[in-house]
Amino acid sequence: MSLQQISWPLETDQLNSLSKKGHKGFSISKSDFEAADKIPDSLSRKDLLPLPECSELTIVRHFTRLSQLNYSIDGGMYPLGSCTMKYNPRINEVSGSHPLFARLHPLSPCSTVQGALELMWNLEGLLKEISGFERVTLIPAAGAQGEYVGLQIIRSYMKSKGSKKNKILIPDSAHGTNPASAAVCGFEVVSLKSNAEGLLDKEAILKHCQEGDVAGLMVTNPNTLGLFEKEIQTICTIMHDHDALVYCDGANMNAMVGLTRPGDAGVDIMHFNQHKTFTTPHGGGGPGCGAVGVCAKLVSFLPTPILEKTGESFKLNSNAPQSIGPIKDFQGHFMMMLRSYTYIRELGAEGISKIGRHAVLLANYVRVRLSESFDLPYPRPCMHEVVFSDKRQQKNGVKTLDIAKRLLDFGFHPPTVYFPLIVPGAIMIEPTETESLDTVEEFCKVMEQIAKETTEEGSHAKYFVGSPKTLPFSKIDETKAARDLKLTWNS
Ligand SMILES: Cc1ncc(COP(=O)(O)O)c(C=O)c1O
Repeated sequence: MSLQQISWPLETDQLNSLSKKGHKGFSISKSDFEAADKIPDSLSRKDLLPLPECSELTIVRHFTRLSQLNYSIDGGMYPLGSCTMKYNPRINEVSGSHPLFARLHPLSPCSTVQGALELMWNLEGLLKEISGFERVTLIPAAGAQGEYVGLQIIRSYMKSKGSKKNKILIPDSAHGTNPASAAVCGFEVVSLKSNAEGLLDKEAILKHCQEGDVAGLMVTNPNTLGLFEKEIQTICTIMHDHDALVYCDGANMNAMVGLTRPGDAGVDIMHFNQHKTFTTPHGGGGPGCGAVGVCAKLVSFLPTPILEKTGESFKLNSNAPQSIGPIKDFQGHFMMMLRSYTYIRELGAEGISKIGRHAVLLANYVRVRLSESFDLPYPRPCMHEVVFSDKRQQKNGVKTLDIAKRLLDFGFHPPTVYFPLIVPGAIMIEPTETESLDTVEEFCKVMEQIAKETTEEGSHAKYFVGSPKTLPFSKIDETKAARDLKLTWNS
């Protein structure tokens, strides 16, 4: 069978069908074979691996085709709200692949990696300036690990004061990682109902604090409805008056960059999601970066190793008695720091102040354009993302999931769906500051077209059943896909 004859969906044995006995994707010189002969019997394979036999070009074409079947940020817009997929500018990769950085070893003595430590110090300085915190640790590998660090700091701080407070207040609009992180750190999670405006209810917070066992509040600002917590300063004061701390989930910091600083509002701890604000790869909760900023009174609790500067020299200090200790191997993911640093330096002070403005402007463009077509449960100006619902489309039997799948027919990745949980049938859209107005406009036109389809008699059967129809795969069984992973060519 030739590559052209292979039809989709691709079954694993189709790779085998490309195999032709004797075809090779490599050639090894005779001298290398001689070296292979010297491998002791105990270490060499007895049988050949049952791999398909293909030429290099056949394999390159096969995997290039596979890669093109995937939706990618290089191919189109990702309007995902909250867990945003943002364009990672190519310049980040230029510095990320520079051999002088790429070949650094994490166990190198500090004296030999002064340049890298200086870059970390400088990145921390930029993040401090942007957020208004006293110090920032770059160690956490993801936003969720940043939450873990922040909550461990709250725990250690309370312990240092002899306090047994054990409750963390978390609004019902929060990202799932918030209550999960609090629970993992042994806190009792108290869910706060959002008020009619979709915001924190300061009276409810005061009431909880008066009970005397609240250690902290985890607030996402702007929240997951894309709304700015306008009472944040008053809420911080209430918490501090009751000897409790305020943790900000700063995943949505891109809406505030250059506009306002959480540290100035009274927030005590905050994580950044480098992938959402500073254009690094997400890392799927793994090899990313979720830097954490803290106010002055929490600096001594930061995780080790702590980066220190004396005169012009830098060192990593692991001897910090109040620290929560190490939370990640070495000092985190340097390559992510490098990418964030490149992005911030490329933009400069002037460019940085445009991040927040563009993010907010584009989201409000979408809000205004699409509120004619879709229900907007919280109808007021938003920050970086906007949440619609399927309320109007439900009348004709079309649900959020149908809309998401139909978008794929038009070549757009769907927005985040069914989150935040407090909006039934949520359609959460974040255009991101890295998209152009032209692309966002195209997306809005397609959304309008889909909304129009839903107004027709029998529209569900006519347009939505079986979508996506234009892709190699139609609706997949997402549970099976997640639980029955096929990770090798012959599994
Ligand atoms: C609001 C919010 N909080 C926390 C997280 C968790 O971050 P991460 O996926 O980097 O662990 C996300 C995901 O991007 C998020 O959107």
